[in-house]
Amino acid sequence: MKIAFVGKGGSGKTTLSALFIRHLAALGRPVVAVDADINQHLGPALGLTDDQAAELPPLGGHLPEIKEYLRGSNPLIRSSDEMIKTTPPGRGSRLLRIVEENPVYAACARPIALDEGSVRLLATGAFTEEDLGVTCYHSKVGAVELLLNHLLDGPGEYLVTDMTAGSDSFASGLFTRFDLTFLVAEPTRKAVSVYRQYRDYARDFGVQLRVVGNKVQGPEDLAFLRREVGGDLLTTFGQSEWVRRLEQGAEPPLRSLEPANRAVLDELRIEADAAYGRRDTRRYTEQAVLFHRRNAESWANSKVGIDLTTQVDEDFVLGECAESDTRTAPAGVRA
Ligand SMILES: Nc1ncnc2c1ncn2[C@@H]1O[C@H](COP(=O)(O)OP(=O)(O)OP(=O)(O)O)[C@@H](O)[C@H]1O
Ligand SMILES: [Mg+2]
Repeated sequence: MKIAFVGKGGSGKTTLSALFIRHLAALGRPVVAVDADINQHLGPALGLTDDQAAELPPLGGHLPEIKEYLRGSNPLIRSSDEMIKTTPPGRGSRLLRIVEENPVYAACARPIALDEGSVRLLATGAFTEEDLGVTCYHSKVGAVELLLNHLLDGPGEYLVTDMTAGSDSFASGLFTRFDLTFLVAEPTRKAVSVYRQYRDYARDFGVQLRVVGNKVQGPEDLAFLRREVGGDLLTTFGQSEWVRRLEQGAEPPLRSLEPANRAVLDELRIEADAAYGRRDTRRYTEQAVLFHRRNAESWANSKVGIDLTTQVDEDFVLGECAESDTRTAPAGVRA
């Protein structure tokens, strides 16, 4: 299933997504971790040194190969140059699995051995000052949108994304691509206002959103979050000495995390597993097409020079059209 961690800057998205990833890996579940935040910190949070993290291959830098692979033999997409971040899969497209070897993982994913288990990490790549202009920012997270739209994930398999929760996330369709979104909120008014903004926007798209309180220090913090967030509050993670030691450079094993906080990680897992059962493949595909049409009409048709809405395979539903996934590469495509 596809899980996103969003929230205001500094709320603890990276900390909680890394811990959730480690928890899943410790249970032996297959996990692909994706760093799609403006601040690329997931690698170090999973134990990479800064140098190792700096060497992660950026997804954004491999877009042409990624597009060429995913396009497969889809006759509606004539070349990878005509493929944009929202081009939906159709018959002939190649789909990705959580557990497999493929050229996208070979080029961009890096395996990380954890103290218990292991994961693969994909990263959008660092955002520079210029990237923060709308177009470039989206071209970086666009690679993630493309991968999610081509991902066939099964129950008990997880893709966990560390994202940002600014208004930027709403300009692309990425925020609709998850089975469940955890919004991390400290017990502060600012965090709650980020939650309300996200909730109001996400509601129209049927996004499943649950709030995870973080750095909760006592009953008053808990009461504040319950009052402000109501039924969307799933659980709360406490202010953690273990996280503080981690932040100070120690490498505490996952099994020494405070038991109450470890239990919170399992609550997240249970909620994620339940969300998988509620997924609606048809709506998922329809929304991919909706965002593709919007992009085509607002900028991409004129940029690419063709009508990109002709790329939509009306009869295709991701996860229901097994025959669409051609596993053999046309000659010359495989890297
Ligand atoms: N439960 C916790 N207990 C103690 N410290 C915490 C906890 N959660 C997060 N922190 C600390 O808060 C700081 C911000 O956390 P983190 O980097 O995970 O937030 P973020 O939302 O990913 O931030 P950014 O928006 O910069 O990416 C870090 O110093 C982290 O160690
Ligand atoms: Mg972060």
